[in-house]
Amino acid sequence: MNSLMLIIVILLPLCFGADNYSWYPTFHFSPPKGWMNDPNGLSYYNGYYQAFYQYNPYDTESGWMHWGHARSTNLLKWEHLPIALTPSLPEDIDGIFSGSAVVSDGNLILMYTGVSGNSTHQAQCLANSTDGINFDKLGLVLKKNGSDLNFRDPKVWKQGDSWFVIIGSKTDDDRGEVLLYQSLDLKSWDYQGVLAQADETLGYMWECPDFFTLGDKQILLINPQGMEQNGYDYQNLYQTGYFVGTWQPGEQYIIEKGFKEIDHGHDFYASQTFLAPDGRRILIGWLDMWESVFPERQEGWAGMLTLPRELTLSLNGTIEIRPIREVEDYRTEDVVSNNSVTLNDDSIFVLKEQVTSNEIIIELDPVKSNASTYGVRLGDEDQGVFVYVDTEKQRLFVERSYPQFNISRSDRSVAVDLSNPIYLDIFVDSSSIEVFVNDGESVLSSRIYPTELQRSLAVFHSEGSVTVNKYSIWNI
Ligand SMILES: *[C@@H]1O[C@H](CO)[C@@H](O)[C@H](O)[C@H]1NC(C)=O
Ligand SMILES: *[C@@H]1O[C@H](CO)[C@@H](O)[C@H](O)[C@H]1NC(C)=O
Ligand SMILES: *[C@@H]1O[C@H](CO)[C@@H](O)[C@H](O)[C@H]1NC(C)=O
Ligand SMILES: *[C@@H]1O[C@H](CO)[C@@H](O)[C@H](O)[C@H]1NC(C)=O
Ligand SMILES: *[C@@H]1O[C@H](CO)[C@@H](O)[C@H](O)[C@H]1NC(C)=O
Ligand SMILES: *[C@@H]1O[C@H](CO)[C@@H](O)[C@H](O)[C@H]1NC(C)=O
Ligand SMILES: *[C@@H]1O[C@H](CO)[C@@H](O)[C@H](O)[C@H]1NC(C)=O
Ligand SMILES: *[C@@H]1O[C@H](CO)[C@@H](O)[C@H](O)[C@H]1NC(C)=O
Repeated sequence: MNSLMLIIVILLPLCFGADNYSWYPTFHFSPPKGWMNDPNGLSYYNGYYQAFYQYNPYDTESGWMHWGHARSTNLLKWEHLPIALTPSLPEDIDGIFSGSAVVSDGNLILMYTGVSGNSTHQAQCLANSTDGINFDKLGLVLKKNGSDLNFRDPKVWKQGDSWFVIIGSKTDDDRGEVLLYQSLDLKSWDYQGVLAQADETLGYMWECPDFFTLGDKQILLINPQGMEQNGYDYQNLYQTGYFVGTWQPGEQYIIEKGFKEIDHGHDFYASQTFLAPDGRRILIGWLDMWESVFPERQEGWAGMLTLPRELTLSLNGTIEIRPIREVEDYRTEDVVSNNSVTLNDDSIFVLKEQVTSNEIIIELDPVKSNASTYGVRLGDEDQGVFVYVDTEKQRLFVERSYPQFNISRSDRSVAVDLSNPIYLDIFVDSSSIEVFVNDGESVLSSRIYPTELQRSLAVFHSEGSVTVNKYSIWNI
């Protein structure tokens, strides 16, 4: 090798060092390549957590949908498996849309929406697996009378000796609704009526319904399309939220509370829950929103899932949402921690220089702070993500700004009580942030697109002082 070659060999990695920088997540699920949206068929089978997902392996845009498949022993590290379902039957030839999974007689049964006729017909189909890897299609099992243009996303469960399924749909006058069916064998289904229906404020279509028990209540989770923004609420293109009520087989669903959004960030949709073997109700969502920019397309992939979250019902009947406790096993090193930091002057305080795959716990103290806004930011003054308290508005904001990637400055927020410390548990991955507020109170999930130079995490504040009671930062 002559010296010129040697120089080229040495310089190449340096030149490309910045180019190999990637937004591909390290502790969240994403497809190996191509496009993904909704999580599907979340379940536990054969000793593994099973996750399927809406998948277009051929493009970084939504298109001819398949069910991608992965499994995990801990809900955090996922093993990619062969595609589970590919369009092949007359009733699913134009796409395998969303659905769910149940274990029946030791087999893993998938119920999904088959789409045909250039997506004008939607009907429910089954597939069966004895090993959790290979699936045999059992074909069409449930069609809607009349228009079947919007009839999708079956969520199946067993109660007593019966199977039940709910399916997202809309009325003839364009209001979202959820339809209920019952079966003894998963194949022959009887219509049981409308479980719930939108009034004029709750959207023209309800997608990806979910129905489950928390405490002594039944929760209906829906994804309405067509809701109008109302102040700080419903700011995304589509919503995900829930009702709290009571139901038992053969009776009406009596709604007591709701509709309430289950995540308040820029990017959350089409979530699904399942019951872990230890009884936890776990929720996973698509950490994206339709019609977003998806700058990661330049890397050959698009879309990711949220961290799994555990849901519980609080005493006052709202849902509490926390990261699953397994994430604690991923804290590889206690990188930084400090008991108390107070900033009086106009300085910023750098907590950590390179934050790419980290958990950050930080407690802001509104009583000891007198700036009107304060919090943490990842990036610089102009570009990045800003997680801060606005004392006038009495809200916690997640604001992001990536104009370089055509993502203009915008915020999402939740109300916070300023008479107590504000406890934030923040997960930052290569292109996402999830901010869990006050141990169960709320969560905000957003995609972020920092460059390698916008990875510094700092405390910042407006005129006045800010006090951070304590913080810890772990690598993940
Ligand atoms: C980029 O490549 C360099 C050198 O091989 C490596 O140290 C670094 O971790 C890579 N960065 C990413 C984000 O993959
Ligand atoms: C689907 O659309 C194409 C082009 O619009 C048309 O040629 C074809 O006949 C349609 N197929 C069905 C089954 O409707
Ligand atoms: C799934 O396949 C197994 C093995 O062939 C069979 O015993 C079982 O009945 C099938 N389940 C359904 C719902 O058809
Ligand atoms: C469809 O219509 C038939 C005949 O009117 C009725 O028996 C059946 O229950 C209906 N099914 C559904 C799913 O609405
Ligand atoms: C803790 O914060 C104070 C500023 O309030 C700073 O002087 C000190 O260096 C910090 N300690 C560590 C370990 O970061
Ligand atoms: C930037 O986003 C706007 C909508 O927010 C869109 O109309 C425009 O085409 C986008 N530009 C580029 C270059 O992607
Ligand atoms: C209900 O309880 C939750 C969690 O304990 C709390 O965050 C929320 O502020 C309470 N809401 C009301 C209206 O009291
Ligand atoms: C804000 O608090 C700091 C102490 O943390 C104090 O030095 C400063 O005078 C206060 N400013 C105002 C306007 O109260």
